[in-house]
Amino acid sequence: MVGKPLSKPSSHLEVIVERDVFTLARTAADLVQAYMSTTGEPRLGLATGGSVADLYRNLVLRSRKGWLDFGGARIFLLDDYVGLGRSHPQRYANVVMTRLARHVDLDPHRLHAPDGDAGDLAEECSRYEDLVCRSEVGLQILGIGRNGHLAFNEPGSCLESRTRVVELAEVTRADNARYFPGPEDVPFLAITQGLATIRQAGHLVVLATGSSKARAVRAALQGPVTSDIPASAVQLHPRVTVLLDPSAAALTRFGPA
Ligand code: GLP
Repeated sequence: MVGKPLSKPSSHLEVIVERDVFTLARTAADLVQAYMSTTGEPRLGLATGGSVADLYRNLVLRSRKGWLDFGGARIFLLDDYVGLGRSHPQRYANVVMTRLARHVDLDPHRLHAPDGDAGDLAEECSRYEDLVCRSEVGLQILGIGRNGHLAFNEPGSCLESRTRVVELAEVTRADNARYFPGPEDVPFLAITQGLATIRQAGHLVVLATGSSKARAVRAALQGPVTSDIPASAVQLHPRVTVLLDPSAAALTRFGPA
């Protein structure tokens, strides 16, 4: 049945298959709204990428209707590229500012991201790790890469990893090339929250759509917890909601028969 929690493979992981990406974005926005309306100072963790584009639009609409108030909220991004330059439109802090933050009256000082242009990247990783840990993110939105990456934790990432500089996988650079003038313009390095950092959030909400994600989704949800599929680390978290469209769910036991 579409739109209802289909099954709980364990007591803490809920999988919901929605009929299309718009319904999926609405369900994700419902979760964000429920969290924000019951929390005095919401600390929302956000991902970037195509999977969350409709969610951002939905949040902007709800804010305009007065259903959501970002006044007291703080937003924490999962990751960002290294060396793009502070004004580059694909710097994730700028993407979230342009697509979401400025339309919901979020104070720019309340949008937090790792600085991929910091002079000392090791120091920046440690600053951001401390900030995220101290801030206690309540709800974390996540996407999954085609190769099973989570944030920019590529295959091979330690399940206990913390915020650090990482080398991007070729498939990730190829997938993200659509946002750049050419494939050669995609950076080779990024700063990402680690898999252990991400698991500190109170509630993980994972969004995946499209058939290109089907294998990674199956491995992440039904396979072993392994560094080879960093997104499988969500199985270690006590509270996870996974939102899929039928194509992303197709190879799982939650997909169409
Ligand atoms: C990107 C981001 C992730 C995102 C994932 C999926 O490279 N670093 O945070 O969740 O890969 O991206 P998309 O939603 O565009 O498929």
